[in-house]
Amino acid sequence: MSVPTHDAPRAPFASFSFARMLTAAAVFAALSGSFVAPAPALAKTATPKAVLDASAVAVPDRYSADTAQQIFAAGGNAVDAAVAIAFTLAVTYPDAGNIGGGGFMTVFMDGKPYFLDYRERAPQQATRDMYLDDKGSLVPGMSLVGHRAVGVPGTVDGMWQAQQRFGKLKWKQVLAPAIRYATEGFQVEPWLQKRHDDAAKSFAGKTNFDVYFSNLKAGVTFRQPELAQTLTRIASDGGREFYEGRTADLIVRQMYGHGLVTRQDLIQYKAVWRQPVTAEWNGYRIVSAPPPSSGGIGLIQMLKMKADLKPAFDGLELNSVPYIHLIAQIEDRVFADRQQYMGDPDSYKVPVGKLIDDAYLAQRADEVKPDAVPGATPVNPGLGDAMPEKAQTTHFSVVDKWGNAVSNTYTLNGPFGAGVVVDGGGFVLNDEMDDFVTKPGEPNQSGVTGNEVNTVAPGRRPLSSMAPTILLKDDKVSLVIGTPGSSRIFTSIFQVITNLYDFNMAPADALAAMRFHHQLLPQKTIYWEPYQPITGELAEQLQASGYTLAGQQFNGDVQLIRVDGANPEPAADPRGVGVGRVFH
Ligand code: DON
Repeated sequence: MSVPTHDAPRAPFASFSFARMLTAAAVFAALSGSFVAPAPALAKTATPKAVLDASAVAVPDRYSADTAQQIFAAGGNAVDAAVAIAFTLAVTYPDAGNIGGGGFMTVFMDGKPYFLDYRERAPQQATRDMYLDDKGSLVPGMSLVGHRAVGVPGTVDGMWQAQQRFGKLKWKQVLAPAIRYATEGFQVEPWLQKRHDDAAKSFAGKTNFDVYFSNLKAGVTFRQPELAQTLTRIASDGGREFYEGRTADLIVRQMYGHGLVTRQDLIQYKAVWRQPVTAEWNGYRIVSAPPPSSGGIGLIQMLKMKADLKPAFDGLELNSVPYIHLIAQIEDRVFADRQQYMGDPDSYKVPVGKLIDDAYLAQRADEVKPDAVPGATPVNPGLGDAMPEKAQTTHFSVVDKWGNAVSNTYTLNGPFGAGVVVDGGGFVLNDEMDDFVTKPGEPNQSGVTGNEVNTVAPGRRPLSSMAPTILLKDDKVSLVIGTPGSSRIFTSIFQVITNLYDFNMAPADALAAMRFHHQLLPQKTIYWEPYQPITGELAEQLQASGYTLAGQQFNGDVQLIRVDGANPEPAADPRGVGVGRVFH
């Protein structure tokens, strides 16, 4: 039996099993207050043998890289580091890092893949038409800003479950760096002030955002005393404190009279361990996010269709007009399937197997033609009626020297979520309700549409595109990758993976290469990004081929670690302020 070494949660939050009861030694450690020496290892990892030369992270800011350093130095593993990074980003990267949102974690631990779904859920009082007015029209912004946009947050239970199951350190230890940043403050950089200023405009007069964040200015040491208290409660009482303790009281009070999240919603919330979606591709095993994300399926569909179309792609220059034209047709098909078949697997039986089936994808790939006229033929979902059935997110990748890995993407959805701060709790709440189909046929903030499978219903999880992914080679970690970007998430990951493996680029080059995006709607539109805009001859040729070009603010912030033999090579997207760091 394993020997957990975490702090015991205090009643009434003691939802852990007997298998998690502390041994006498661990009780002693827990009782000795702020004991932060490296905890003894769990029995299941009792004699870990280092298989890599180092541990490594690719993270979206420098503070979370420092946190990872402390956790590895204390003997923590990839899950300990991931949980500590997630809590740190909730403080130092508050437009996306969060405790008031949700996400997904793909884990490779002791040779096996796992997936943790800590996605937000619709409150029990949510209804299908809650964002429509009397005339059946969408109320602009209602699913994006303010209390009614908020889904039941999942991050804290996700981190709690991941760390309880796989962590080596004490729970308190992994929260300590975040508590320190919240208490002592951190230096605000200009990029964060800019994100704050942009978001603050959309919240002005509608939420209490500025009461907490008006001080977020470049050069200032930003302290968050109420958030520090919240994190301290969670550290000492365990993750369920957020759902059943004083933090829950504060959330419910914040919602009262304005939003739908109740105490019952919080008590009922549990993160769910699911089978990751997996597929063989190019000698690698892809492990990625299953529903309620479309991300893993979309990524696998794209990679397999491109492989099926090898003869058509052979010799094409990366990001040339014929290359973009073929990828755009692949993307049409992926997004057509996404809108028709994908939603919360606890509400609908999503046909995952059929959607990533080799024969099905070969047949879909066969529809892609070099000489197709953009937009001329409607692209339908491929399985027939098989079923009724600018925004802000962040990703980090972690490997430890024992060969374990975590790929984690989590989100508030929009920058700073709904802009609603929990008074007394000091943290912002998500606006994940906008990932539902708020009105069938109407696009959400990332322009994707959908149908009944993703309408609002009590307890349902909104469809996501997040795709924290791990590639395995011979049952060992070969790549850990993910990104924010809403519907651009899996198309961005796809592009970086093909840059790495089809074009043999080094990680930094694979990240720096131009990226574009296309989805089913708006038809014939190729989105370019400010980092490397599509201009000049390429722009003219695409337009001459029938495409419309559109700029977008954002095409991801990919954080990856490639493992080459025993050597982890982290790389952070030059579009962001991320950091790759190796710890020997
Ligand atoms: O779950 C999703 O797909 C979206 N809520 C993610 C939002 C996002 O990536 C925004 N990032 N910039």
